[in-house]
Amino acid sequence: MKTHEQWTSKLGFILAAAGSAIGLGAIWKFPYMAGTNGGAIFFLLFILLTLFVGAPILIAEFLIGRNSQKDAIRAYQKLAPGTKWHYIGGAGVVFSFILLSFYSVVGGWILSYLGRSITGSLSNANYGELFNEIIANPVEVVLCQFIFMIMTIMVVKGGVQKGIERASKYMMPALFLLFIILAIRSLTLEGAGAGIEFLLKPDFSAMTAETVLLALGQAFFTLSVGISVMVTYASYLSKSENIVKSAFSVAGLNILICFLAGIVIFPAVFALGFEPGQGPGLVFVVLPAVFNEMAFGSVFLFIFLVLLLFATLTSAFSILEIVVAVLVKDEKEKRSKLAWISGLLIFIVGVPSALSFGVLSEVQVFGKSVFDAADFLVSNLGLPLGALFISVFVGYRLPRKLVKEELSLGTNGLGFFYDIWYFSIRFVAPIAITVVFLQSIGLL
Ligand code: PFF
Repeated sequence: MKTHEQWTSKLGFILAAAGSAIGLGAIWKFPYMAGTNGGAIFFLLFILLTLFVGAPILIAEFLIGRNSQKDAIRAYQKLAPGTKWHYIGGAGVVFSFILLSFYSVVGGWILSYLGRSITGSLSNANYGELFNEIIANPVEVVLCQFIFMIMTIMVVKGGVQKGIERASKYMMPALFLLFIILAIRSLTLEGAGAGIEFLLKPDFSAMTAETVLLALGQAFFTLSVGISVMVTYASYLSKSENIVKSAFSVAGLNILICFLAGIVIFPAVFALGFEPGQGPGLVFVVLPAVFNEMAFGSVFLFIFLVLLLFATLTSAFSILEIVVAVLVKDEKEKRSKLAWISGLLIFIVGVPSALSFGVLSEVQVFGKSVFDAADFLVSNLGLPLGALFISVFVGYRLPRKLVKEELSLGTNGLGFFYDIWYFSIRFVAPIAITVVFLQSIGLL
């Protein structure tokens, strides 16, 4: 039987797409990137670049998916038959495969922490040592990565409505609620003001070219744009919905969660005398220490880990979904089997990344550990290059009429907005991305 599934509602789509966007990028990466790059100025640039570059590309991906109603490869084949444009989708599938192979490693770390937080062994530890111990323990990291992948497969195999949409509908509201509880706790700590100032009062003298470039990379990563994951999700969206509004809802929710992550982390960091510029360990090393000094800290740490797990899982669903959708070709009955096969293959490919902080730490790929090399390949090459080709495809290859009609569905006309968006997709986005890309490979 050939059917292309659909989301049951617009809200279901928005929650699933926001679930894809909101993940480790917002909760783990954003605070440490802001922490090491001037705080408020990084946040401000991130917001502007999300709105003026990231969101226009998100709209472009939604447009390709919704118009074609096809998976990441067949979407481009349908819109540009007989051309090589579908390589964008093919590359997206390969990059998604690699992305999930190391994303699931961090998912596994969260499970490790969660297990320890339940047994109580996270209290009063030396968190720096503990983190290094966990990530270097071969059995623990691989086992936890495996469990994380099983959780992802179990949802994705259920399909769009019964799997992803249903899970996201519970997980995303829970995520917001838990975040609000934590934000209130953090804001009511004595001395929290310094943290708020760090996040919200920009120091323009701290702005450098690098800050701009890092903020753009962060905007792409957190919006899940560049590897056609959002093409796949939008292919399940009905023609009666407005994709422009949906894209801005997703971008807005994403910014909101980054803001809340900052509001949870920085006041606590400052109030308790920690350093904001700790780097990648901020969430895993500093936060448990911060919570450890609070009343009921272990409860708040547990809540935080659960929400980090939810956010990471809903992103992982979308990354596995693009691979599964291409393989399933709308033949529903094969879905479960293909979800298992591709999910387990991704797990196997990810094992060297998981081990790269311990037994395989000596192994170098292009001068980096396996984990860092995979991350660099996807985040610094795959996403920006993919976003560049997508903006060129929509800005120059697709007929203007098709583009305008598709964007206008579900609205009473787009007015001036359309011209701004089209200008961005043809000029602003490609130029901005080219600059980031050249910089990230060291050519600028
Ligand atoms: N947006 C996810 C995050 O911020 O954690 C990561 C991601 C998911 C990137 C899906 C790209 C993607 F296609």
